[in-house]
Amino acid sequence: MSKDVNAVSRVRMHRNGPELSGVIWGSMRMQSQFSSLGQLTEHLNWLHEQGITTLDTASVYGHPDPFSVEEELGEAIARAGRDKFEIVTKCGIQRISRLRPENRVRHFDFSAKEIRNSTERSLRKLGIDEIDLMLLHRPDYLMDPDETAGALDALIAEGKIRHVGVSNLSVSRIDLIASRLKAPVTTNQIEFSPLHLDPISDGTLDHALREGYKPMIWSPVGGGRLLKSDDEQIAALRSLLAETAQTYGLAGPAEAAIAFIARHPAGGVPIVGSGKRDRIAGAIKAANTELDRQDWYAIVAKTNPSLFL
Ligand SMILES: NC(=O)c1ccc[n+]([C@@H]2O[C@H](COP(=O)([O-])OP(=O)(O)OC[C@H]3O[C@@H](n4cnc5c(N)ncnc54)[C@H](OP(=O)(O)O)[C@@H]3O)[C@@H](O)[C@H]2O)c1
Repeated sequence: MSKDVNAVSRVRMHRNGPELSGVIWGSMRMQSQFSSLGQLTEHLNWLHEQGITTLDTASVYGHPDPFSVEEELGEAIARAGRDKFEIVTKCGIQRISRLRPENRVRHFDFSAKEIRNSTERSLRKLGIDEIDLMLLHRPDYLMDPDETAGALDALIAEGKIRHVGVSNLSVSRIDLIASRLKAPVTTNQIEFSPLHLDPISDGTLDHALREGYKPMIWSPVGGGRLLKSDDEQIAALRSLLAETAQTYGLAGPAEAAIAFIARHPAGGVPIVGSGKRDRIAGAIKAANTELDRQDWYAIVAKTNPSLFL
């Protein structure tokens, strides 16, 4: 039977990890995309109907105040139905804000105290009993691996977190934390797109394959830069992606970028940041579209010819 290209797949992120939807929706930009709780709730219901059940957020999302995205998203999730979604959030980034007067500089904190406080605050803001997947958001260079791992394992034992993962961590730092954790590291959430090819050559995707976890991919269309930038090189890449899209019956360059990510054997799951239904539907089809090897390499060559030297 042939695959339905408009159906969202289910992805087991690690043999002992969560099952997520094969396209994830990211809430980082939602405050500029939806102007009422009703609109956001309707959007979540629509995502669920499409098969997108995983929602990505973070403690720091929100303007002007951090935590406001978790709170507003939590209200919409309560209306749409908690049981319909897997909720991914993140801890560890410390922003300067009126809500955190103790922060003099932006920094990162994986101390046990901060991980616990952040988890409890996220649970409260989101209005849920358990976080399906908690990620360490950005590397804390002062991380004490025993302390960080101990805090995460304790929160799992208490039923506050179901699974743990990391984001933007080097492979050596993932190995370090994994060596102290009882729970498996079930994902690494990373930037990867035709505009950002580092993961294909710096060992990030190799590590995911070796350790058997699926990465989550943020900014798959470069946060919109791929579509809007006037930069000559990006414009040339966009034209190539538009041609690729035409070949595969995809809507346009953004969708070709998502098919590009999906082609890598590491099986990265795109986190789509658009608030528009046609673009999200296009991303679902793109995630199910297999690019030919040479079409994939043509995109690499356009972005970074030095990878062929
Ligand atoms: N772990 C981390 O450090 C990290 C960092 C950044 C993001 N994230 C997560 O990843 C998610 C996705 O990131 P992202 O929002 O940067 O992803 P993205 O999907 O690359 O970018 C979304 C942006 O691109 C625009 N866009 C999409 N398709 C377009 C098109 N065809 N033409 C013009 N504009 C288009 C969208 O505008 P419209 O809404 O108008 O479509 C939106 O502003 C975030 O929500 C967040 O959950 C994680």
